[in-house]
Amino acid sequence: MSNGLNEGLGVATKLTRLGRDVDTQYGFVNAPVYRGSTVVFKTMDDIENLRAKYIYGTYGSPTIEHLENAWSELTGGAGTVISPSGLGAIALALMTTLKAGDHLLMPDSVYRPTRAFCENFLNKFGVKVTYYDPLIGRGILDWIEPNTTTIFLESPGSQTFEVQDVPAITAVAKELGIKTIIDNTWATPIFFQAHAHGCDLSVEAGTKYLGGHSDLLMGLVSANAETWPALRMTYDSMHMLPGAEDCFLALRGLRTMHLRVMEAERRGLEMAQWMLLQPEVAAVLHPAMESCPGHEFWRRDFSGSTGLFSVVLKPEYSKPALASMLDNMSIFGMGFSWGGFESLMIPFDCSEYRTVTRWRPMGLCLRLQIGLEDLNDLKDDIRKGLDRLSSFMGLHEYES
Ligand SMILES: Cc1ncc(COP(=O)(O)O)c(C=O)c1O
Repeated sequence: MSNGLNEGLGVATKLTRLGRDVDTQYGFVNAPVYRGSTVVFKTMDDIENLRAKYIYGTYGSPTIEHLENAWSELTGGAGTVISPSGLGAIALALMTTLKAGDHLLMPDSVYRPTRAFCENFLNKFGVKVTYYDPLIGRGILDWIEPNTTTIFLESPGSQTFEVQDVPAITAVAKELGIKTIIDNTWATPIFFQAHAHGCDLSVEAGTKYLGGHSDLLMGLVSANAETWPALRMTYDSMHMLPGAEDCFLALRGLRTMHLRVMEAERRGLEMAQWMLLQPEVAAVLHPAMESCPGHEFWRRDFSGSTGLFSVVLKPEYSKPALASMLDNMSIFGMGFSWGGFESLMIPFDCSEYRTVTRWRPMGLCLRLQIGLEDLNDLKDDIRKGLDRLSSFMGLHEYES
């Protein structure tokens, strides 16, 4: 929790100060890593009354606490819990606000494994899930049932980047006493302050920009003051916590996160604008570009953008042509996740699993994560890939 020492400081300054305590670290600037299960007590009275700052590894350690506190300051939350993956954090958040018999509203553009968690797990516990159009805004009112207790948001949406009208949805939820949870991974708290926009719980897959080096799996959930006791209670009932070394990596990532997301923004925008000029590209889905659904909400509510966006190819390109492009990229890798130092490109198609919105793009789609390579090298790699795409179609014209 905040000790008030960083109040009024800019976010870059805060990130250099949070999550460490030089005075108790013999002057070393980084916090030490406490690995451990057992914590010993001095007396029988102490152990019977659990009289100690730390009582057992699963209830926390100074290492985890440094990261929890840092994240709470960064998000403006009253408290934070940390789990071993982003999806684990989403599960913790949902299990905090839901119980058997409840109704949950989920945006149709939600990260697919979140959808799978609802369908494979929450359904089993008697939670009914309804998907809504992420662009619905205040129209969410029409989807609310007497037993709706939670509205989940993810803004922008996975793969297709619809930006949601978060304040409109959280205002409705507040009027009706419904809890809101947002997956804020894309923007990070640096570019979108979820609690200030009315969200009760905010999830970050620390696997992405917090880690920043594709060597860490982690999820964080921060809570506003009202929801914090319930979140902590869920967490303390499950003991689903990260390893100390992973907290160390996350604290290390925190120091440069501001620089990295700002650079991701610059590179992402340059690449997105350049992609739009390529003759093979029909559309670019990037929240900071006007053509992105919900761009007006991004402009109003966010203070920046990051390095993940999608492109829609023109309809004439076939799947085999796309394979000839993707199978032969020399810098872009094909792999899941994002937020690391390396550029990635994956094909996607949400049409088969979205249920209330129709995803009918003009052509095949790609999601791009822009890493830290030279932009000229990235453009060259893509241009050659698009040439393969086009020439494949020329060579195989007779087949169509
Ligand atoms: C938007 C979003 N949320 C959550 C996650 C889950 O993170 P993790 O891979 O750490 O479970 C991802 C992972 O790709 C994601 O893209």
